[in-house]
Amino acid sequence: MRGVVWLYVRSLMKSLKLEPPKSRARLVCERLRDAIIDGGFALGSMIPEETLAQSFGVSRTPVREALNLLQIQGLVVIRPQVGSFVFSPSVADIEALCRFRMILEPRAAELAFAVEVGIYQVNVESEGELETLSKIAEQRGKRQAIVLRVNPEIGAGGHAKITTGGAANKFGVSWSEAERLYIRAANMPGIAIKGLAVHIGSQIFDFGALEAAFRRMRGLMEKLAAQGLPTSRLDLGGGVGVPYKAGEVFPQPAEYAAMIARVTEGWDATLMFEPGRLITGNTGVLLTEVVRVKQGALHPWVVVDAAMNDLARPAMYDAWHDFSAVAPKGETMTANIVGPICESSDTFAMAREIDVVARGDLAVFRTAGAYGATMANTYNSRPMVPEVMVDGAKWAVVADRIEPATILSAERVPEWLE
Ligand SMILES: Cc1ncc(COP(=O)(O)O)c(C=O)c1O
Repeated sequence: MRGVVWLYVRSLMKSLKLEPPKSRARLVCERLRDAIIDGGFALGSMIPEETLAQSFGVSRTPVREALNLLQIQGLVVIRPQVGSFVFSPSVADIEALCRFRMILEPRAAELAFAVEVGIYQVNVESEGELETLSKIAEQRGKRQAIVLRVNPEIGAGGHAKITTGGAANKFGVSWSEAERLYIRAANMPGIAIKGLAVHIGSQIFDFGALEAAFRRMRGLMEKLAAQGLPTSRLDLGGGVGVPYKAGEVFPQPAEYAAMIARVTEGWDATLMFEPGRLITGNTGVLLTEVVRVKQGALHPWVVVDAAMNDLARPAMYDAWHDFSAVAPKGETMTANIVGPICESSDTFAMAREIDVVARGDLAVFRTAGAYGATMANTYNSRPMVPEVMVDGAKWAVVADRIEPATILSAERVPEWLE
């Protein structure tokens, strides 16, 4: 919590430097900042806007606007705590912050929905999920087809944060538990177990790791089959990597297919695949405009109007996206490419050789078709960018821009603060 709030404070201070305070809301922000800098306050528990308004000698409207500018919308707060920014919530604070979570228990409802619509297969990840699902299906007089997702303790992927099959990753049932749970599932009244599932990571170029994991899964399937258990399906997940850099050498999908053929040779089971990035990765670009090019200590900073909220991959896991000018001038320069959000993680590339660009130029981040729009968010009340589908000379807006007013319109002031 402390980290989160601190980021907001930092971004406030930066934005105040960039834009001198104009409105009363900014004035409130500035006073809030001064109060924090003076060490008279620290962010912590909730206090109502009313109290804030009184503290700053203004009406509630600019306080509300200030909170919106701060992006903290009423959860913030001030608590005297000289010289530190320690967040020390009371039990009541935590309850208030968590209330949303506490009333939501979507898992069982989602499973019930899946059973009711007659979903083909549920990939079960834990013993608890298995028990819940069995009860739900039994209550409805059904047996739900499932496969058990197993963690093969072999992970791979383009980054630790998109590696899912290692023993340290949260996915699937653990290898040592798999056989016991499979047998248990086969004896549950609401379950029709069909086989196993595995997905060891994403953006995988090392098909050797995939092959090792798949062989492990086959071994387990054969062991289960030898006990007379049903083993008709094996879901091999997704994970095949795509090239993100021009000229990058990458294993061809045909090599993947050949590997699958090797692993599954002479084996009669339905194979299932869950490709994601492979299908959409190179079908999308993020179009952006250069807002400014400013001098840097080492390299110029190319500030673009796209940011980490629009394309999160570089900030989340140092992902590389090629950057190209829409109308290249035939020259290159070495630069850092950053978005305008007040986070150092809002960085798309450092010391990158790119097309020469200047303020107002359009450019694209390539290979933004997978984990791009789907991971986009509205941090800093930035609008969600529209999505445009292009087919030759035809184009259509397939997802509207979501304006800040729409984003803010979802917010409510609780009646006890009215
Ligand atoms: C279970 C599962 N299957 C398939 C995929 C798709 O992976 P990829 O896009 O790497 O093919 C994911 C991605 O997160 C996943 O979690």
